[in-house]
Amino acid sequence: MMEYVMITGASTGIGYALAKEYAAHKKNVILVATREERLMQVAKEIKEEYQVETAWFVQDLSEIGAAKELYEKVKKAGLMVSVLVNNAGFGCVGECATIPYEKEEQMMILNMISLQELSKFFLQDMLKRKTGRILNVASTGAFQPGPFIATYYATKSFVLSFSEALRLENEPYGIVVATLCPGATVSNFPARAGKKPSKTAMPAEKVAKIAYREFEKGKHVIVPGFFNRLARRLPKGVKSRYVSWMQRGLMKK
Ligand SMILES: NC(=O)c1ccc[n+]([C@@H]2O[C@H](COP(=O)([O-])OP(=O)(O)OC[C@H]3O[C@@H](n4cnc5c(N)ncnc54)[C@H](OP(=O)(O)O)[C@@H]3O)[C@@H](O)[C@H]2O)c1
Repeated sequence: MMEYVMITGASTGIGYALAKEYAAHKKNVILVATREERLMQVAKEIKEEYQVETAWFVQDLSEIGAAKELYEKVKKAGLMVSVLVNNAGFGCVGECATIPYEKEEQMMILNMISLQELSKFFLQDMLKRKTGRILNVASTGAFQPGPFIATYYATKSFVLSFSEALRLENEPYGIVVATLCPGATVSNFPARAGKKPSKTAMPAEKVAKIAYREFEKGKHVIVPGFFNRLARRLPKGVKSRYVSWMQRGLMKK
């Protein structure tokens, strides 16, 4: 059976860059996102450029039950996922009380529930095969509370905590689990979150290259960028004050 790397949120940004990075290493890829036309275009582009097999699934992972639906579609198509990259996610910026609750509800389902369920379903298959790898995308926002982006940062703390626990649980069975914690990265993220782009954002391709290399090396919490790694060492209180100042500045008026 042919092996695939499945990447959620592979139509743009970090997920798209990761899909190309894996394909450049001769891995077949399964792309997941909500926009069919864009997925078809990316699948074609990757297949032609890297000579690997590509498959794609349209799935809105911000709905309850979507992860199960996607898992069943992948099984029905007879595709074997040897690496799962849970990357799809978005953020909501602003004062929590003023952000529409439906928007944050969808974000919480996408960033946490779908990620947790996809990890669980594909992990069950990996355990049967005694091999498999899961890379979950959190954020440097996972390391401290984030005023003016509170719920998003909390979802990313969930991703980090869950993934680290999953790693320790499954290490003895030969399953590798790691967490990618990017800082500001050039992508559609700021526009979707309703904020201005950061001037210090890293290119998504650079983040993907580091993520691939460090994941292959066996690093379990991957923080791309020297300043992001440095900032991680600051006391939580200092970091939260800084985030509060920064996010307030990035909020679109
Ligand atoms: N950019 C940053 O500064 C930054 C920093 C730290 C962490 N991250 C994390 O990195 C991950 C990737 O974000 P990005 O920066 O690359 O942003 P992006 O360019 O907006 O990409 C998000 C991806 O997720 C997909 N997606 C969005 N909603 C979805 C849904 N409901 N169901 C399925 N797929 C969905 C999008 O595709 P469609 O729109 O086609 O569905 C797209 O492929 C996210 O988890 C984000 O939280 C980003």
